[in-house]
Amino acid sequence: MGLNHLILNLEDIRFNYTGGPKVLTDLDLQLFKGDRIGLMGPNGSGKTTLFQIIMGLLKPSSGSIEIYNYPCKTEKDFIDVRKKIGLLFQDADDQLFSPTVLEDVAFGPLNLGKSRDEAMEISLNTLNFLGLSGFEDRITYKLSGGEKKLVSLATVLAMEPEVLLLDEPTSGLDEKTKATLKNVLSGLDLSYIIISHEIDFLAEITDHIYTMENGKILFDQEVHAHEHVHAHPHGAYVHEHK
Ligand SMILES: Nc1ncnc2c1ncn2[C@@H]1O[C@H](COP(=O)(O)OP(=O)(O)OP(=O)(O)O)[C@@H](O)[C@H]1O
Ligand SMILES: [Mg+2]
Repeated sequence: MGLNHLILNLEDIRFNYTGGPKVLTDLDLQLFKGDRIGLMGPNGSGKTTLFQIIMGLLKPSSGSIEIYNYPCKTEKDFIDVRKKIGLLFQDADDQLFSPTVLEDVAFGPLNLGKSRDEAMEISLNTLNFLGLSGFEDRITYKLSGGEKKLVSLATVLAMEPEVLLLDEPTSGLDEKTKATLKNVLSGLDLSYIIISHEIDFLAEITDHIYTMENGKILFDQEVHAHEHVHAHPHGAYVHEHK
């Protein structure tokens, strides 16, 4: 694929929290238009940190970030990035801050300069698309965990992003809601990276599963969905089921 299709290009990214150990060590990651990537990895391996670096919420200590072929270093560089890339936070409470669901979902479109009427229309359509019609006037902080997660996704989708970064979108969702989410994601014509510990979920909606280990990303764990429904990150290697 040509350079024009390269959305994200991270090279040699290093990062540690102040006074803490290295979290990311010479990490490389590329995302091309149309890529649908799953990202797995142990607790604390740096997956959420990586998403925050892509959004410019954390600054790497070294390495380069290019987004749409544009080098991103300063806060100003990331302002445009945040209009194109939608981040679903791991914790919905970090995402939702307005009193009601409709206000929360409309916040993004209004912030992007849409008129009140346009923002309302986009928000209602997005809620409807996610099966959340009737939630408009619900008090955000009183929603259940799974409802918060879906409303968070609505706030992200309402901004009509070109790329989605979803940090554990299925956590707290029941099987039926997970199935709805799968349908929603497979119907979107977007590029995305989804962090999840659920390999079966990732196998159905991504083309590649990457693994985070020792501060780096291991590539090419191509998803092999087995006939007996579940899948493994073992690529083409022969393996046994115990
Ligand atoms: N704000 C912070 N200050 C200091 N250390 C942090 C901070 N946030 C995360 N860490 C540490 O950085 C490491 C990576 O955390 P991160 O949240 O990126 O992991 P993760 O792969 O998303 O894990 P999980 O699967 O549990 O969500 C962990 O050791 C964590 O304790
Ligand atoms: Mg995390």
